[in-house]
Amino acid sequence: MQLLEERILRDGRALSEDVLLVDSFLNHQVDTELMREVGEEFARLFKDAGVTRVATIEASGIAPAVMTAQALKTPMVILKKSKSSILQDGVIQTEVFSFTKNASYQLTLKSQFVRPGDRVLLIDDFLANGEAAFGGIRLLEQAGATVAGVGAVIAKAFQPGMGKLRAAGYRVEALAAIGSLSCGKIAFAEG
Ligand code: G4P
Repeated sequence: MQLLEERILRDGRALSEDVLLVDSFLNHQVDTELMREVGEEFARLFKDAGVTRVATIEASGIAPAVMTAQALKTPMVILKKSKSSILQDGVIQTEVFSFTKNASYQLTLKSQFVRPGDRVLLIDDFLANGEAAFGGIRLLEQAGATVAGVGAVIAKAFQPGMGKLRAAGYRVEALAAIGSLSCGKIAFAEG
């Protein structure tokens, strides 16, 4: 998505070889006009995928997921992060390990909000190692839904998440794919 790539080059910063700072428009301050365009682009890409629900993982996925759900005219569901296991009727959980934070959390969903037969599009701001995305997929499939695809606003193509998801048979669309953050320079992946 050209508009997004231009914005990443203008306002993003390679903090290290692994981390791209985009907090002025994506995950701290949010450019709502850009998010509207992001939502419309995901809706265009997945328009024939039979999506009945959009899901995301709190917190930074919420803005692009809301806009995507609005463009697709579906409800949006937030998969919550909890520190503890909640043993309660109708609540399902799966453990996710975050490499960035070096800590685990319980991804949590009230199963009433995702039903068997739903086709769910999972949207997130970043796709890195794919741990969060695989956790989201486990939870959605546990709820009886089919994952119609995974949409990442930014995928770091030099990290394994995108490849692992595709190898597992999931459709993945990234609106910007970063090929490298070496020497403080942001380079997009070829193709
Ligand atoms: P993974 O799910 O793909 O394996 O990645 P990981 O758990 O390591 O990611 C942990 C958090 O770090 C996620 O947000 C993710 O969005 C964010 N993240 C990963 N790579 C980058 C990056 O290059 N730049 C920025 N700015 N963030 C990155 P989170 O901790 O779940 O927090 P939030 O969604 O509440 O913001």
